[in-house]
Amino acid sequence: MTLPEAQQAAVKEAMPKHVAIIMDGNGRWAQQRGKLRMFGHQAGVKSVRRAVSFATQVGIQSLTLFAFSSENWRRPEEEVSSLMNLFLTVLQREVKKLKNNNVQLRIIGDTSRFSEKLQQRIAVAQQETADNTGLVLNIAANYGGRWDMLNACQQLCRQVKSGALDEQQITEQDISTLMEENTVGDVDLLIRTGGDHRISNFLLWQTAYAEFYFSDVLWPDFDDDAFGKAIAAFVSRERRFGCTGEQVQALLNNNQQNEDHFA
Ligand code: FPP
Repeated sequence: MTLPEAQQAAVKEAMPKHVAIIMDGNGRWAQQRGKLRMFGHQAGVKSVRRAVSFATQVGIQSLTLFAFSSENWRRPEEEVSSLMNLFLTVLQREVKKLKNNNVQLRIIGDTSRFSEKLQQRIAVAQQETADNTGLVLNIAANYGGRWDMLNACQQLCRQVKSGALDEQQITEQDISTLMEENTVGDVDLLIRTGGDHRISNFLLWQTAYAEFYFSDVLWPDFDDDAFGKAIAAFVSRERRFGCTGEQVQALLNNNQQNEDHFA
């Protein structure tokens, strides 16, 4: 069924522009099948591919996936090294597909701790897709929200020290701009799969006004239907940005009147 043009525009407007996902549950998914945890991570890659394709189809502008947190180094050495190998393989294998599908890949996080080989592959993958103009796919690897904020603070301190910035004049926007230059901008919808209800040091600054959606689905099972439910929940929620419900409704009515006026 094709929606009338005005409705299509309204749906497009209501869609989240930046979706971030904490992909949790790979290990449990594998264990439920009597397999090693790595089996779950491999199945997780298929889910990543599916989510990227879904995001492209529904017109999401940026998708940020939490692939490896700064705390994940604490996992058994064997799992960490297998994950690093998986990242290497996936980067090599998928970059051409991303390029052909107009996806721009960015890796956010402290990549300096990765092997030379992985760092090189990251650089190549980013370079190869840099001119793409479709979905921006951010993969958070060795990423921590506090690390991200610390980086911004250090940059601000350097600017103050050099005299380029007056400490009394620092604004929230200065910090947001720096965060965006370093990593990513504000998130509209944060999804966490796997049943837990926490943010786990993900995009702490950028989720200040995000809608949170928690799904019991384990990441390897997170399909288009599950993603669609998260989007539908987002669209049905009223985002107030500190205003009252009445103010938001008045704004929406006003927008609607303007739209009708220009129709
Ligand atoms: C969390 O599940 C998952 C991870 C820490 C790794 C995520 C990696 C992938 C999905 C594959 C690679 C992705 C890319 C983008 C190359 P968990 O192991 O914590 O699961 P559990 O809570 O059931 O133990």
